[in-house]
Amino acid sequence: MKILIRPDAPAAAARAAEIIAARLRAQPGAVLGLATGGTMEAVYGRLIALHRAGQVSFAGATSFNLDEYVGLAGDHPCSYRHYMAEKLFDHIDMRAGAAHLPRGEAPDADAEAARYEAAIVAAGDIDLQLLGLGQNGHIGFNEPTSSLASVTRPKTLERSTRAANSQYFPDGIEPPRIAITMGIGTIMRAREVLLVATGAAKARAVAQVVEGPVSARWPGSVLQMHPRATLVLDPAAAAELELAEYYRDIHPD
Ligand code: PGA
Repeated sequence: MKILIRPDAPAAAARAAEIIAARLRAQPGAVLGLATGGTMEAVYGRLIALHRAGQVSFAGATSFNLDEYVGLAGDHPCSYRHYMAEKLFDHIDMRAGAAHLPRGEAPDADAEAARYEAAIVAAGDIDLQLLGLGQNGHIGFNEPTSSLASVTRPKTLERSTRAANSQYFPDGIEPPRIAITMGIGTIMRAREVLLVATGAAKARAVAQVVEGPVSARWPGSVLQMHPRATLVLDPAAAAELELAEYYRDIHPD
């Protein structure tokens, strides 16, 4: 794992955006794995700025998002399809139809998950997978005790995950209980993985993921087994890392 500790959260987002942009410059037809959540808003903001400055194009890219809520159609304002349009897709030059998310409105969630997994395989798997990190260590919506070999499937969300995401839903409306998520095995097939975590609320999960044992208790810890995983952190998220000084020494920039 490469651990990059940046001076603050905007600098972490900027570094993550630069890594994605560099991949697209080197490989314009890259298959990107994309994520949602508060952390990604800053990353996408930087990518949009790079695009507007003529420094990155998505015209040849394909994308697959990690997850979608079961029961929410793509035009629902709380769906991840809607989030992605608002935070990224409406502002860049990605081709219509090149951006994929699980269909939350599909009548059979198991069948939809199988279709989505097959679509990722048919695209040749993900070249660069962007990940956030849950306070409980989840990647995608792979909650604690998810099989480390899992593929795309419906998952029941932990109470803490739904509480963290309730801020994005109108007052009195709770996030759905079930989401379709890429599996941990799906994520591990990506050729490169880029996890971004900022803020003190992530410090415990970051420490477990980087320095704890590989365990389904903290699903992100499986990235210790990935040949090319980079974590971009701010100092608050890195605060509980025992070896922070070592990571700063080997990657000062
Ligand atoms: P956040 O979500 O960026 O909103 O903290 C991350 C996640 O749960 O994966």
